[in-house]
Amino acid sequence: MTHETQRTLGRTGIDVSALGFGCWAIGGEWQAADGQPLGWGAVDDEESVRAVHRALDLGVTFFDTADCYGTGHSERILGRALGRRRDDVVVATKWGNLFDERTRTADGQDDTPAHARRALTDSLRRLGTDHIDLYQFHLSDGDPERAAELREACEEFVREGVVRAYAWSTDDPDRAAVFAAGEHCAAVQHTLNVLQDAPDLLARCEEWGLASINRSPLAMGLLAGKGRGRPAAGDIRSRPPAWLPGYDADGSGADEEWLARIDAVRDILTSDGRTLAQGALAWLWARSPRTIPIPGFRTVAQAEENAGAMAKGPLTAGQLTEVERLLGR
Ligand SMILES: NC(=O)c1ccc[n+]([C@@H]2O[C@H](COP(=O)([O-])OP(=O)(O)OC[C@H]3O[C@@H](n4cnc5c(N)ncnc54)[C@H](OP(=O)(O)O)[C@@H]3O)[C@@H](O)[C@H]2O)c1
Repeated sequence: MTHETQRTLGRTGIDVSALGFGCWAIGGEWQAADGQPLGWGAVDDEESVRAVHRALDLGVTFFDTADCYGTGHSERILGRALGRRRDDVVVATKWGNLFDERTRTADGQDDTPAHARRALTDSLRRLGTDHIDLYQFHLSDGDPERAAELREACEEFVREGVVRAYAWSTDDPDRAAVFAAGEHCAAVQHTLNVLQDAPDLLARCEEWGLASINRSPLAMGLLAGKGRGRPAAGDIRSRPPAWLPGYDADGSGADEEWLARIDAVRDILTSDGRTLAQGALAWLWARSPRTIPIPGFRTVAQAEENAGAMAKGPLTAGQLTEVERLLGR
């Protein structure tokens, strides 16, 4: 691998592939108490396992999940798929959301250190491992004062050897700063894709020496060519919550304005033999040397296409400038 296909998680010395795999979709269906879908529709667990194996074979060494994805199912499937190769990879999971595994329903939030301890024990069991490489606080808008307590709880987990490093999943630089003050904080997980830039947070990641882990790198599939037509019932995109931009609230599919912006940059993203999804990932690597996109996946074909982006590397500086010009930024 060239240097461009590797990243280090902050100041920890933990090396990962420059591409991680996001394991939300492979959790399968679950919902909010009011029936709002929180998964990406039905999944085939055997295909999910094959997709993880394909990712491993193609050099992916970083996997991002959360305890709540599929109310525990994503962690179980990832643990099963990794099996004896678990120590060959870096596993990130998250805590903060409550859920009922029996009814596959979200059940509120808990930002107490006592819950972090309980959630960690449960994640270790579901993943079938004795440590979490990167433990992430999932409540994007969490209380900063409470977060300072959680940061200290994470430092304690590191001392005990059950966690190697930690991060906050938040789009707010001021919240991220609370965790960044901790010795073993390694990253910020935040939204970043061609259509949703985050210059302030990227600048802070540079300043703090932290990795920028990019969720929704394909804009929930739009930057992989999805979004024409009505999403299936049971898919979060069929009834998008307020925090999910890019899809119309009436469930009719993608926002036309988002699709128009993708059309504007399609040619440049798909130059040099890249598919649209590969071009979207290449934009992220060109945007900053700290970025680690974690595209979601549900099939072997998606795993191959997304992992295949690594061999093609980042966009050139000239292509990056051209994308910014085309988007009027
Ligand atoms: N911390 C948080 O609060 C948070 C929030 C969001 C996401 N995340 C993390 O970030 C990861 C990725 O973000 P995301 O799931 O929001 O969206 P994304 O990566 O922008 O889009 C992923 C979806 O795009 C489609 N896709 C992926 N590769 C494709 C390909 N090569 N060709 C065609 N379609 C493709 C798949 O859906 P279909 O096949 O169903 O179209 C896939 O589930 C998640 O899995 C999760 O780990 C974290």
